[in-house]
Amino acid sequence: MLKRTLTTAIVSTSVLISVSIAQAGPIEDRKAKMKEVGKNLGIIGKMVKGETAFDGVAALAAYNAMGAVGTGFGEFFPVGSETGGETTASPKIWSDPAGFEAKGKQFGVDLGVAIQAGTPSDLAALKVSFGSVAKNCKACHTDYRIKKE
Ligand code: HEC
Repeated sequence: MLKRTLTTAIVSTSVLISVSIAQAGPIEDRKAKMKEVGKNLGIIGKMVKGETAFDGVAALAAYNAMGAVGTGFGEFFPVGSETGGETTASPKIWSDPAGFEAKGKQFGVDLGVAIQAGTPSDLAALKVSFGSVAKNCKACHTDYRIKKE
């Protein structure tokens, strides 16, 4: 009888653990992806600000890296991942999924244009594509991300 109770307890504990892992998964994944996007935008941002030398090949590589991790970013907001893992995702993502999706789509479009343009020829060209891509970060974060105190 005692053994049976113990087994039941162990089974339910492992179920609980797998549930919490399943919920932490998408939050961790999307944060890691966003961080990678941020890192790569930072590489280009430094060139634009003149903190590092203009390098068109490196800039295109950074856009490509953003495209690789940014794709599917929107899939990491399943129902059940609204809270936990120190997420800064706003509840608006789930109450207004169409609006959130539109922001993600626009980001993909602008990033696609930057990638399609190929290696930027000079800093002036890079500034234009940078502005077009970077405006999407703020546009989405303002509406769909909660500022942490
Ligand atoms: C379609 C919406 C959207 C776009 C576009 C977007 N982000 Fe985000 N970003 C989010 C959301 C939502 C979070 C919060 C994720 C969480 O905490 O669960 C976030 C979080 C972040 C974080 C914090 C990650 C962490 O470790 O907690 C960084 C850095 C970031 N974004 C950078 C960027 C940059 C740079 C761009 C533009 C190149 C960008 N984001 C574009 C929605 C977006």
